[in-house]
Amino acid sequence: MEKRDKCEKCGLRLYTRVPWQYAKTPQLPILIIGQAPGHTETITKIPFTGAAGKTLWRIMKEAGLDKTNTHITNICECAPPEDRAPTPIEIELCSEHLKAELQLAKPQLIVALGEVAVNALTGRKGIQTLRGQYLPILSKWEWECPVLCMLHPSFIMRQRQWIDIAIKDMYKVTEFFTSGISNKDSYNPEFIYDPDPSTLAQLLSEMAPYITAIDIETPAQLDVLTAQVIGIAFCCNEKKAVALDFTESGMRGESWDVMKRFLEDPKARKCTQNGQFDLAVLETNGVKVKGLVYDTLLAEHVMHSDLPGNLDSLRSRYTDLPAYKPEKKSMKTIGQWEKQKRLEYNCMDVLATHLVRLGQTSIMSEKQIQVLEEIEIPLIDVCNYMERRGFKVDVPKLALMHQDLAPKAEAIRAKYFAPIGLNPNSPKQLQKYFGITSTGEDIIEGLIKRGHKNSDMLQALLDYRGMSKIVSVYLLGVYERLREDRVHAHPKIEGTGTGRLSYKNPNLQNVPEPLRVIYIPDNTDYVLLNGDYNQLELRVGANIAPEPLMLAEFAE
Ligand code: URA
Repeated sequence: MEKRDKCEKCGLRLYTRVPWQYAKTPQLPILIIGQAPGHTETITKIPFTGAAGKTLWRIMKEAGLDKTNTHITNICECAPPEDRAPTPIEIELCSEHLKAELQLAKPQLIVALGEVAVNALTGRKGIQTLRGQYLPILSKWEWECPVLCMLHPSFIMRQRQWIDIAIKDMYKVTEFFTSGISNKDSYNPEFIYDPDPSTLAQLLSEMAPYITAIDIETPAQLDVLTAQVIGIAFCCNEKKAVALDFTESGMRGESWDVMKRFLEDPKARKCTQNGQFDLAVLETNGVKVKGLVYDTLLAEHVMHSDLPGNLDSLRSRYTDLPAYKPEKKSMKTIGQWEKQKRLEYNCMDVLATHLVRLGQTSIMSEKQIQVLEEIEIPLIDVCNYMERRGFKVDVPKLALMHQDLAPKAEAIRAKYFAPIGLNPNSPKQLQKYFGITSTGEDIIEGLIKRGHKNSDMLQALLDYRGMSKIVSVYLLGVYERLREDRVHAHPKIEGTGTGRLSYKNPNLQNVPEPLRVIYIPDNTDYVLLNGDYNQLELRVGANIAPEPLMLAEFAE
């Protein structure tokens, strides 16, 4: 079919087309491919001439690249309205132009910018973990060359913390033309599965002098107070990893004891990725880990609290290991995987954890190492103790509050909303009924202030929301998580950028004042104490400055 025919079928033909600039400089080795033109490009008619382009050129310059060496184009030639991403159909309809461009440009390397370009060219999803990797191009493009995946410059403009990572990724373009694709198989590790107990003891004693990465596998459920350990792996260098399988009851024989001895030995130093979880589950399973000296998630939190700390992201940033995590759609829970696959995955996880630690420690400052070792790592035991012990709840009081409030919320619903068939929990229905585009609290309060004709109902909506949130989050939400009369909330060490703890399941830090009475001390020997620094940031600031007027004010 002629390209023209395809354009006829595409809704984007109504918007501005930004054709490719090939004719000016044919045959350059690099082809950069973005998503689609933005607003500026519809005026200049040249791809990447707006703000995203500026960021892109800056990244290229920092990586030692000259833009005159590159062609640049987009997956879609036309600018979708309101800067939205092109749809899969639009991408398909536009594929003829890109195919023709590839044939003309004959690039040796394609740099795909962002999720849309990466997915269209390689069929893969998940740019955050694919970035920095070379992937094969889909055969439908009828051109063969590696595709280097990169974050989209528009994303980096909004999330500046990624810029160093993008520069590092872009540097691979130079590397590609000087030394080719570095050999990612050079690790070529040996994975040992389920060795007999004496071999295991030998392997672990070889690891004991080094920092050993450990990682457990659990079935889907992530409740640390009940989760079973179904596998564990160990790794202390890039040559070897060992994984054990405990899926069936009765497997906890001699190997379990050997493993337990190693884990409980304080002299055998260990490293984890999110060890707060592993250590808690191991304790549930009767193993009290000692000798933890490093955690890759917490190390990342100390260095870059605004970047993701999950293993896949760390792997992509600190190691040359290719992505090995199955894509979400193909992912059953690990408990359902066949044994071989699970053991291999477990080995890859410890190998990645080990390599991430090496990468991180090569750039960590002494101060950061000190914070990790003296504050963050010791917090794991403290937090796990708090979670295991839990918080005592006055269950009769909770039930009484529920009995009081739940009917009140229901009464509002029955009086104002049920008679007209309106669901007060449906933003769509509310928007339609009140003729508004948002049902946010501030918007509704504004409407009431300005004397909206349905002010009574709008006020009823706010009252209903307040009450039903209390009922569902602070009462039922706690009730459903009770074990006997205690709730085992999870303190998250890496939950905030400032370093304070956050809580989840349930969050104990935002309980409204009147509801705090449901949390009580264990017995009369204890009291609950509410403490807070007054103007902490200002006081610290005054001291660092040091600002005499402020210091004098505080001294008073
Ligand atoms: N400008 C382009 O030309 N492409 C993009 O993907 C974004 C901005």
